[in-house]
Amino acid sequence: VKGKGNLKDGLSRLLTDFSQGYFQPDVGGKTIPVAEGELSDLAGDEPLFKALYKWFIESGGVYKLVFGPKAFVVVSDPVVVRHILKENAFNYDKGVLAEILEPIMGKGLIPADLDTWRVRRRAVVPAFHKQYYDAMCSMFGRCTERTIDKLEALLQQSGGSPVTVNMETEFLNLGLDIIGLGVFNYDFGSITSESPVIKAVYGVLKEAEHRSTFYIPYWNVPLLRAIVPRQRAFAADMAVIDATLDGLITNAKETRSEDDFEALQARDYSQVKDPSLLRFLVDMRGEDATNKQLRDDLMTMLIAGHETTAAVLTWALFSVAQSPEVEARLLGEIDSVVGDRAPGIDDIKAMPYLRATLAESLRMYPQPPLLIRRSLEPDTLPAGLGGDPKGYPIGKGADLFISVWNLHRSPHLWKDPDTFRPERFEEVFTNPAYGDTWAGYQPEAGRGALYPNEVASDFAFIPFGGGARKCIGDQFALFEATVAFAMLLRRFTFRLAATPQEIGMATGATIHTANGMMVSVARRQGAPAGAREAAERPVAAV
Ligand code: HEM
Repeated sequence: VKGKGNLKDGLSRLLTDFSQGYFQPDVGGKTIPVAEGELSDLAGDEPLFKALYKWFIESGGVYKLVFGPKAFVVVSDPVVVRHILKENAFNYDKGVLAEILEPIMGKGLIPADLDTWRVRRRAVVPAFHKQYYDAMCSMFGRCTERTIDKLEALLQQSGGSPVTVNMETEFLNLGLDIIGLGVFNYDFGSITSESPVIKAVYGVLKEAEHRSTFYIPYWNVPLLRAIVPRQRAFAADMAVIDATLDGLITNAKETRSEDDFEALQARDYSQVKDPSLLRFLVDMRGEDATNKQLRDDLMTMLIAGHETTAAVLTWALFSVAQSPEVEARLLGEIDSVVGDRAPGIDDIKAMPYLRATLAESLRMYPQPPLLIRRSLEPDTLPAGLGGDPKGYPIGKGADLFISVWNLHRSPHLWKDPDTFRPERFEEVFTNPAYGDTWAGYQPEAGRGALYPNEVASDFAFIPFGGGARKCIGDQFALFEATVAFAMLLRRFTFRLAATPQEIGMATGATIHTANGMMVSVARRQGAPAGAREAAERPVAAV
């Protein structure tokens, strides 16, 4: 296959970069259909996940992409996905992704080896409990007030005329402030200011993205680390973040207070001065984690929980700003349930349409759009829905992409998959592929979950993955998005200030816009005047 064109999308370069002499003879059995790829199909402005969709429609739910010496198996079938993520989950690790993230996240949950992962997952998961979420929801409200104040100030400057704002940037700032407070009670204050630590976080995120788009691990070569300017900048950024995290960890250990410990044990968060995950891990788990392990855990959650949630809000706004009927129904629900108040968990429970809207946004714009795996031992992938009944043998070391984008837009699984329609999660419909009926959202099947999930949809909808490696921050992120979206929509009317084509799409770790989410923001007619009570309280001490 001859390469041509300017490959803009990073992951496509990952597929096509031969310079590392990487050879994979045993990537899949002969029975896996081979997509007839031309490098030129990956060239140009289109993100990789869109090219993978075309081949899915032509070649089916399991196909092999071969580019010279490299091959990837692309999976877009819910039964096969369930096999990889759940039924045979421990036969797979994160492959290329772990190699990219290890220098940044160390032995955090995403890149960790299996032994470390088992211990840390058991330690971290209990930190996400009901009282923690209650405390977090008030904090989400107080941080969103900062974004509201910022938009209000811009509107005041313009004398009340609508202002054009890049809401992607605003959601990234909001997401950073929230994750800093939720994970280690550190106030980045990024909505209102700039600081060396904020710059360092964005620098590291950018470098992580660059690495995922430039797959020659040059950053592991000591000499290059010392002389390549971007590597020197990366090392400097990491030093700033590490110093901040080390300071927070040392402080948390030194200020371990019996009062807090007792309140934490009783799960009485009204008495807890610092409800962050770090405090919980230090106070409840005593000395069982080294400072280095805690640093890796915090760093992983900082990166995993920041851009992802911001991207959900960005694309939810993009969709709602173009759907006046959805917006009207949302406003009816928000006004009648929360009115002026800062929303709490009971309000979230009482707003099913808002929850369905965020789920619909995650269906159409999954973050990340592709999950990456590498097989540790040979395996046979199941036939799936309409695949080869013999299944698909794959060798040890096979690289796989699970295309969440394809799964969530599969014409075999969804009616009008490219239409933004939150109502679909209220409907029960017949799924021709499954040959029976399934609800887009079955709370009982989803173990009473508030939001549609992989269990309710039997792996047709996997916004947070599934099985053992499922996201641990799913509730945190969904509550955050629900509170922020409700508070912003009731105050402002958002309309796109550019065409969807001008806004564009690009892949990084999440789906970005190509040119910013440029939105015209106006005060909503008849917006509640209040909703400010939360702003009076300090943000950091919840
Ligand atoms: C894993 C999505 C927010 C922490 C994952 C995975 C997905 C995901 C799809 C599975 C990756 C895989 O199987 O390869 C999202 C989305 C979010 C979000 C869409 C926002 C809407 C968060 C937040 C946190 C977090 C807020 C932390 C507070 C993690 C961690 C893992 C993970 C630690 C690795 C879990 C493990 O391997 O055991 N996330 N995430 N995520 N997420 Fe999230």
